[in-house]
Amino acid sequence: MSRNDRFLKACRRQPVDAIPVWLMRQAGRYMKEYRDLRARYSFLELCKTPHLAAQVTLQPVEAFEVDAAILFSDILMLIEAMGVEVRFEEKAGPILDAPLRSARAVRSLAPPDPEDDLGYVLEAVRIVNQALGGMVPLIGFSGAPFTLACYLLEGGSSKDFFYTKRMMYQEPEIFHELMGTLSSAVSVFLRAQAAAGAHVLQIFDTWATILSPSDYKEYVFGHMVRVVEETRVANVPLIYFSLGASTLLGLIKELGTDVLSLDWRIDLGEARKSLGPEIAVQGNLDPLALFKPPELLKPMVASLVEVGSQWPGYIFNLGHGLHPLTPVEQVRFLIETVHSCEPCCDPTRGPV
Ligand code: CP3
Repeated sequence: MSRNDRFLKACRRQPVDAIPVWLMRQAGRYMKEYRDLRARYSFLELCKTPHLAAQVTLQPVEAFEVDAAILFSDILMLIEAMGVEVRFEEKAGPILDAPLRSARAVRSLAPPDPEDDLGYVLEAVRIVNQALGGMVPLIGFSGAPFTLACYLLEGGSSKDFFYTKRMMYQEPEIFHELMGTLSSAVSVFLRAQAAAGAHVLQIFDTWATILSPSDYKEYVFGHMVRVVEETRVANVPLIYFSLGASTLLGLIKELGTDVLSLDWRIDLGEARKSLGPEIAVQGNLDPLALFKPPELLKPMVASLVEVGSQWPGYIFNLGHGLHPLTPVEQVRFLIETVHSCEPCCDPTRGPV
């Protein structure tokens, strides 16, 4: 158990002494400590060298009063472990030189063995926990099957996700086969991270935002339910993040995760009302709101905390990752502001 367990308590919708806060991409280029290390190592070297990945994970925990650490790694590591080469280009993000464009290519994906193929991730989890000594909980993570499928089919980021949708619509059996293979890999990987010591698991479904609710239901929902069911046995809280959370709310509520992480396009108070008290919510400040002057940022944060904490089970976060140019002082101010806000629900009340 962690000494600071307000994040774990909020995931379980238990009362907290203050609103827990951590930030997506809290380790990264906006921090000088990260840029200094990055000047010496490539991004992949940082991810694949357990003591370096652990060191980067700890940088924001040492610099700010965040209530959780998130393992420094990337969702593309799982793809590489399945036999597809990935490289990272400055500005362009991840690039796969051989995207999957045929049934044969889909069938050539290898199911990953976490200890053999992703042992460096599991080792980083162990090192981080040892260094944290129970100070705050550690979040492990994976990309969701659909978002991983997008990278595999597109070969990188995309404007229209043409190859993904073409396979979905023209070769649905192969698309479902791909989603099935990825779902198994994701749940095996998540369970391995929990077994290595991750206290909470987050599933990143960034690109679900490109789907209509009916396509999400037809092509993604069943696979995600399977991932959630297969990951449940790890007995740690599960968080689902999607950039499209605001457009898919009714569906993703039914996935069965403990927490939904929302993007900023939806009003947090309305989202909580429509989701009801039986699921915890994380979010949802626009990351670029950190470029507002402090006197304008503060009331925004206070009003998110007020509507977010109308029931137990609220975690403050951004609606997507921190921008690399974010001033460190603003991040510090944000975290202090969240902690200074009074949760609006009665702290003596148990889970609803
Ligand atoms: O949140 C954290 O601090 C943990 C580390 C983390 C990274 N990527 C580090 C990273 C996590 C959880 C991710 C998840 C991830 N990776 C997602 C899902 C969340 C999201 O942002 O939507 C996605 C889609 C990726 C794929 C990816 N990796 C992209 C699109 C990029 C390039 C964009 C960018 O920000 O440069 C990356 C690279 C990446 N992943 C960096 C970091 C710190 C930048 C690497 C560098 O150049 O130093």
